[in-house]
Amino acid sequence: MEQSSKGKFDSNFGFLMASLGSAVGLGNLWSFPYKMGLGGGFAFLLLYVLLLVIVGYPLVLSEIAIGRKSQKAAIEAYYEIHPAFKFNGVLQTAVPFFLIAFYCTFGGYIMKYLVYSIMAFGGKEIDPGAFFEESLLSNGGSAMIWMIIFLALTVVIVLGGVSGGIEKFCKIAMPALFVMLVVIVIRSCTLPGSGEGLSFLFKPHANEAGFFETIKLAGGQMFFSLSLASGCLIAYGSYLDKKENLERDAVFITVGDTCAAILAGMAIMPACTAYGIEPGAGPGLLFISMQTVFNNLAGGKFFGFLFWLLVFFAALSSSIGLMEGGISAILDSRIKAGKSVNRFAVTLIMGVWALAGNTLTTLDCLGAAPTVAWFHLLGQPDVLDVWDAVAEGILMPLTGLIMAILIGWVVPHYIDDEVEKGSNFKSRGFFDFCIKWLGPIFMALIVYGQVTSFWG
Ligand code: PHE
Repeated sequence: MEQSSKGKFDSNFGFLMASLGSAVGLGNLWSFPYKMGLGGGFAFLLLYVLLLVIVGYPLVLSEIAIGRKSQKAAIEAYYEIHPAFKFNGVLQTAVPFFLIAFYCTFGGYIMKYLVYSIMAFGGKEIDPGAFFEESLLSNGGSAMIWMIIFLALTVVIVLGGVSGGIEKFCKIAMPALFVMLVVIVIRSCTLPGSGEGLSFLFKPHANEAGFFETIKLAGGQMFFSLSLASGCLIAYGSYLDKKENLERDAVFITVGDTCAAILAGMAIMPACTAYGIEPGAGPGLLFISMQTVFNNLAGGKFFGFLFWLLVFFAALSSSIGLMEGGISAILDSRIKAGKSVNRFAVTLIMGVWALAGNTLTTLDCLGAAPTVAWFHLLGQPDVLDVWDAVAEGILMPLTGLIMAILIGWVVPHYIDDEVEKGSNFKSRGFFDFCIKWLGPIFMALIVYGQVTSFWG
C-alpha cells in the first residue's frame, strides 16, 4: 500500500497553516503571557528567543525533515532512521494521546463561551466568575456536552483527510486568527491603563527565579508551544511535497508561533491591567479575567466574540494536530502490516480514547469534584495534571533530547539530503553544532526543569 494513501497537503501554505495551527494553542494564550511577565519580561523573551534559535529551530527542522524523508509518522520514521530508536517514536506518539485527553475539555469550555458571546448580542450577559464556577466546574454534565461537541468537530475535520479537512480548515482559521488577534491587540493597547500590562510583559526586571530556573520555565513552554516531540510535526512533514524548502518552513513555524504568543500577551495583559484585574495564568486568565474585561469594555460584545472565536480556532487546530499525530502513526503500522488504510476506523479509535480521557478530565472539574479523585495519580492534584505531567513533564523533553542525540551523534547528517531537496541548507553548520552540542545540553536542563516543576 502506498504511503501517500494517507494523504498529502495540496500546498506549502496549507502545510504551514496546519503546522502553525497545531503550534498556536492554549500554550500561547494562557501560559506564555504569564510566564513572560513573571519570568523577567523582556529578559525572559530574550532567553526564550535564544532557546528557539538553538533548540526550537533545529528540532522543528529535524522533525519535518524526518517525516518527509521517511514519508512516515513518528513510530515507523524512527524505526527507519535506526531500528533501536523505534521506542522513541512510540513514546512521542503517546504524547498526543495524553494531551488530547484534556485538550477537548478546554475546547468544550471555550465553545460554551463562544456561544454565550454570540448570545450576548441579544442582551444575555454572564457573570464570568459565577458562570465559570456554576456552569462548567460544578456542572460536569454541561461541560461534558460541550466537550463532546468539540471532540466531534475535531473528528469530523480529521475525517475530512489531510487536504480536504485539516488543510482546508487551517487555511481559513489561521489567517483569521491572526487578524482577530491584531484587532484585539490594538483595542487592548489603546485602553487607558494598558501601559502597566505592557510593562509587566516587556519591562526587563530582575527575576527572583534566577537564570537556570528561567531557562527551565522557557524551555518547557517552548516544547509544548511548538508541538515538539509529539509526533505531530513528523506526521505533517510526511504529507509535504518534496520540493518545498524545509529551512524556510521551520523558520516560519518557529517565528509564527512566537509572534502569536507575544501578540496574545499584548491582547490579554494590557486589557487586564486597564480594568485593574489580576491577570494570573491558566484557565482563570481566559475564562474569568478576560470575560470580565469584555463585560466592562466599550464594544466588549464585539471584541469578546472575536476573542472567543480566535481562542476556539487556536484550540481546534491544535486538537486536530494532536489527533492526526496519533492517527498517522497507527495508519503506518496498518500499511506496514499490509492492511488497508481505513482513516475512518482509526479516527474513531482515537476519538473513543479522547472521549474516555476527557470524560475523566471534565468530570474532575479541575480537581474540584471528588468522584474522580482516584485518578489523581503520580502525586498530581487533578486529572489535567496527571496527563500533562506524563506528556509535558517527561515524554516531550526527554524524547526531544533522545532525538537530538540520534540526529546529532548516532546518525549525523541524516537529514542533510532531505533538506537539500528544497534549499542549499545554508544553516547546516549552525544546525550541526546545535543538534550535537548546545541542544542536548539545554534539553537536559529542560528535562530536569520539567521533572522538578511537576514533582519538585
Ligand atoms: N502547541 C499546542 C499549544 O500550544 C499544543 C500541542 C502540543 C498541539 C503538541 C499539538 C501537539 O497549545
